[in-house]
Amino acid sequence: MTEQIIEKIEKIEKKHEKKETLRDSIVLKVYRANRLAGEPGRYDSVEVPVQRWTTVLDALLHAKAYKDPSIAIRYSCRMASCGSCGMKINGIPRLACYTKVSEMEGSTITIEPLANFPHLRDLVTDFSQFFLHHRNMQPYVQNEHADIKDREKLSEFVQKPEDLDRFLQFSYCIKCGLCYSACPTVATDTKFPGPQALSQAYRYFIDNRDSAGKGRTNIVDDKHGIWRCHFAGSCSSVCPKGVDPALGIQLLRGHLLGFSKNEKKIADLQERLNKN
Ligand code: SF4
Ligand code: FES
Repeated sequence: MTEQIIEKIEKIEKKHEKKETLRDSIVLKVYRANRLAGEPGRYDSVEVPVQRWTTVLDALLHAKAYKDPSIAIRYSCRMASCGSCGMKINGIPRLACYTKVSEMEGSTITIEPLANFPHLRDLVTDFSQFFLHHRNMQPYVQNEHADIKDREKLSEFVQKPEDLDRFLQFSYCIKCGLCYSACPTVATDTKFPGPQALSQAYRYFIDNRDSAGKGRTNIVDDKHGIWRCHFAGSCSSVCPKGVDPALGIQLLRGHLLGFSKNEKKIADLQERLNKN
């Protein structure tokens, strides 16, 4: 399974591999609006110098430092770890710190706030609902035998490598919201938990240390829940961490439908998903 995950990550990296175009400068067409002040939206164009390794976040920070300090951006780690710099770059949800300017086609890059999130200002959106969906999945291991009063009886939870493989890829999620932004179902139903939360429900459901399986399936088995996924697959194609939320959703559905114990059916499903 670990080899399969590595293979999948390599496939995703290959898919995202772009031809580089070297330039001295680029024009950023940045969406601007302060929703709280009721401002209508507009696009401001700013030209910034770039080098081969300049990322879209670097370019935006240059624009902010030297051209227009009022551009609102959210970012922190600059290394695709914190998940806070998600934005629409040339129409696709991406991490600005993980997107090189040299990989973009054309001499202008259009940068807009993530879709499916309430807009606050310029490139900043409100993640409250997204995090609420995540919290609703109870994203922590629950184990009725873990709270042992007698310290003498405490012992480790044994987990084999194959147990870990069942959920490892889903634990790479950095909660950047790109999958949520790309999801066509979230666009029409904000009560739908979305690919991030549902794949996290699967991550804990399949963890052999967790004993809240039934409770978790009850959370997602709802008219706004897991059955609303149309399997568009856009969530998995935009994920910057190689997580395959669409796979997690289908596997969790398999458990709800009761064919989860059929290893062959799961292998077939996995193969079909890998082909997409
Ligand atoms: S599954 Fe991927 S795209 Fe979705 S929030 Fe997690 S890291 Fe981001
Ligand atoms: S700044 Fe942290 S993910 Fe981009």
